[in-house]
Amino acid sequence: MRLLSQLFLVTCFASTPSLAWAANTYSVNSLVLAQEGRAIFDHTPQRASKYVGDALSCESCHLDKGRKAYAAPMWGAYTRYPRYQKKAGRVVTFAQRVRECFIFSEHGHAPPIHGHVVRALSAYASYLTYRHGTPYGEYRFLVPTSYTPPGTGYVPPLKTTAGSAVLGRAEFRARCAVCHGVNGQGGRTASHLYAPPLWGPRSFAQGAGMGKPAMAARFIWENMPYGDGRTLTPQTARNIADYVDSHKRPKPYQAIATLWRHPSQIASRTGAQ
Ligand code: HEC
Ligand code: HEC
Repeated sequence: MRLLSQLFLVTCFASTPSLAWAANTYSVNSLVLAQEGRAIFDHTPQRASKYVGDALSCESCHLDKGRKAYAAPMWGAYTRYPRYQKKAGRVVTFAQRVRECFIFSEHGHAPPIHGHVVRALSAYASYLTYRHGTPYGEYRFLVPTSYTPPGTGYVPPLKTTAGSAVLGRAEFRARCAVCHGVNGQGGRTASHLYAPPLWGPRSFAQGAGMGKPAMAARFIWENMPYGDGRTLTPQTARNIADYVDSHKRPKPYQAIATLWRHPSQIASRTGAQ
């Protein structure tokens, strides 16, 4: 909060009114919205409860509040859209990509495209882009699309053979269970979830990006064990990813195609907002 308001003051007073000023300054409204977006990003089940069906926040996977390189950081993602996405079979905007993570990764329902949740999360991503040194932030229409700073997305596909869930089980117990639990359900203290569930009804739904072992292996190799990334061999990361993937997870409530339907049509199909 304090950091954001200080930043606002600095950018306000240090700039002169010019195009550079326009490209470097945030309006108070945008900053407030970005702040709300950060709160939703960190506490998604609490702050966007209507649209979330599991125990995961955006930050469970997009680590360090969406800032960590090679954990699909928002400062990289924001400038990457609109882009063609194979899963959707069409060109997808940033807002639609956010809504998709609600359906699969949050095992919930896509919030309205022009609603507060999507706008706040987009404002936060835009702000991170600006903070990261990509100079256009909310004025991204000034630059070409599809600019991807290094660290965007994940590390390149790992060179491994197909994973072994059997080996992965032992490796999971040795390296992951201390936080995520032997049963993969994560852990909590009285007030705080300190490691999120990796499978079962409180984790992400079928069809989520993290549910593809090759993709999960890239995330795990770089980022896990938490705070100790790049210590597993790529093959171990892949085996563990296969073991994690061998468990049951819930079916999504919405199909990806519903992202392009009018909300009233979706309500009649799923009974949700
Ligand atoms: C279970 C883990 C998980 C959770 C929780 C999650 N995401 Fe994602 N997200 C992913 C993965 C994995 C990808 C990359 C998928 C791919 O490229 O196919 C991704 C991709 C994205 C992208 C595109 C990134 C890029 O570089 O193109 C955005 C934007 C995004 N997520 C936003 C969100 C938001 C906002 C939330 C919270 C509402 C969220 N995600 C929750 C796993 C997750
Ligand atoms: C020191 C504790 C710790 C260890 C050990 C650890 N993790 Fe995590 N893991 C976390 C935390 C904490 C998060 C969520 C990060 C956040 O919210 O900022 C997380 C997130 C994840 C996620 C994305 C969220 C989800 O629920 O799917 C996956 C996948 C994951 N860890 C897999 C692993 C694997 C595989 C290992 C073993 C190689 C491992 N972790 C070891 C603490 C740990």
